[in-house]
Amino acid sequence: MACFITFEGSEGCGKTTQIRILADRLKAIGHGVITTREPGGCPIADKIRGILLDAENGALTPLSELLLYAAARSQHMAEVVKPALACGHVVLCDRFTDATVAYQGYGRQLDRETIDRLNVLATGGIRPDITVLLDCPVEIGLKRAMARINTTSGAREERFELEAMEFHRRVRSGYLELAAREPERFIVINGAAGVEETSVEIEAAILARLPGGS
Ligand code: TMP
Repeated sequence: MACFITFEGSEGCGKTTQIRILADRLKAIGHGVITTREPGGCPIADKIRGILLDAENGALTPLSELLLYAAARSQHMAEVVKPALACGHVVLCDRFTDATVAYQGYGRQLDRETIDRLNVLATGGIRPDITVLLDCPVEIGLKRAMARINTTSGAREERFELEAMEFHRRVRSGYLELAAREPERFIVINGAAGVEETSVEIEAAILARLPGGS
C-alpha cells in the first residue's frame, strides 16, 4: 500500500545510511520501495541541486534559493513521487518540505507564509504520511558531514556545511519545533547513536505505523 515517508535532520544526522537500510528491510518483507532525495531525485532536479549546493554560489540570495528548492521539488513530484505513490509503492524520500521550513524558514529566517504557499504549490498538496526526524547535536553532525565531503570525489556539495554554527542551531531547533507540533506525523530518533541501534529503532517505529502493518 502506498506510503510517503520522509527523512529529515540537520547536517550529518545519518539519514542517507538509514534510508538505505530501511529500504532493504522493507523490500525483504515484500514492500515495493522507491528511494529518492531532495533537492534532486531526477535529472532536472539534480541539475538544480548542483546550483544549490555549490560552495562557489555564495552570492545566491535567500529568495532565489527558496525558489530553486521549489522548482526542483515541483519537477521531482511530477516525475518521481506522484507516479510512485500512484503505483502503490512505499516512497522513502531524503528531505522534503520540512527541510524548506527548517533551513529557509528557521535558518535563513524567510517569511513562513511564503514558504508554506510555495510548498503547497510545488507538491500539489501531497504531504508525507510519516516523517522520521534524526535529531543530532550540530557539532557531531557537522564533523561527520565534513569528513564525508573530504573523502568524496567530484563536486564539493558544502554550501550549507559552511554556514555559521548559529544557523545550524536554528535549523535543529526548528525541526524539533515542527516535530512537537505534529507528533502524529513525526518520529523523532536519536541520530547520534550507532548505525545499527538507530536502524532497529526506525524499523520498529515504521512497521508499527505502516498501513497494513508489517
Ligand atoms: P543533503 O545534504 O541532506 O542531501 O541536503 C542538501 C542540503 O540542502 C542540506 O544542506 C539541506 C538543504 N536543503 C534546504 O536548505 N532546503 C530544502 O528544501 C531541502 C530539500 C534541502
